[in-house]
Amino acid sequence: MNQRRIPIIAGNWKMNKTSREARELAASLIPLVSVVKDREIVLGPPFTSLQAVSEIIKGTNIALSAQNMHWEDKGALTGEISAEMLLDLGCQYVIIGHSERRQYFGETDETVNKKVKQALRKGLRPILCVGETLAEREGGKLQEIINRQITGGLNDIGAGDMKKIVIAYEPVWAIGTGKTATPEQANEVHALIRQRVKALYREEIADGLRIQYGGSVTPENVSSLMAMPDIDGALVGGASLKPESFAALVNFR
Ligand code: PGA
Repeated sequence: MNQRRIPIIAGNWKMNKTSREARELAASLIPLVSVVKDREIVLGPPFTSLQAVSEIIKGTNIALSAQNMHWEDKGALTGEISAEMLLDLGCQYVIIGHSERRQYFGETDETVNKKVKQALRKGLRPILCVGETLAEREGGKLQEIINRQITGGLNDIGAGDMKKIVIAYEPVWAIGTGKTATPEQANEVHALIRQRVKALYREEIADGLRIQYGGSVTPENVSSLMAMPDIDGALVGGASLKPESFAALVNFR
């Protein structure tokens, strides 16, 4: 954590919670985090619960995120959701390029980049996800993969827009597995990402960029991760599905 960057803790609910369950989860969370002022709190329910959660968190210190979107404005794209639809429901953020989308739904650096650009054009703040698989890490490709995902994902994005972007480093081998990267391992990659952004833009942009860690973050390990100089927040799956554990993450010391 670095004093100049406001920590951002986001819950990625993935394909969990009906709208009734989502409303209950959000409602139970509000009183547990209502006094928090020095960090940003974001909830990412599935599309079908965005409206319900949006209504519940209105006027609180919690922001709303979607988990994906399409890069076109509108049209014959059955099953897809546009940026405008997300804005209409009160979303401020959108998670883009999550490794599950890259792995199971064919997302590439190119489509991820189109989505990031469309989100920015429309006024949504992208949470751009990057991360290597275990095979890539063990094959010595970590740096190459991260640099490719960062350079590709940020292609053609101006320095002014970089202030609206959050990057989430999520090693694929740590997601939902209970295997967290050690704080040192995570920080090493965060520093690499910051270095890359500095090379693509300039130091001031890299210094201001918030980089979240994601992958089996829990109330038990969050403090040691957040103590690292280049870790500015967490993108949390499993531990965001219960109000007490997500509140404990938000309230890390
Ligand atoms: P996890 O998921 O916290 O359940 O590992 C993180 C993520 O995929 O965003």
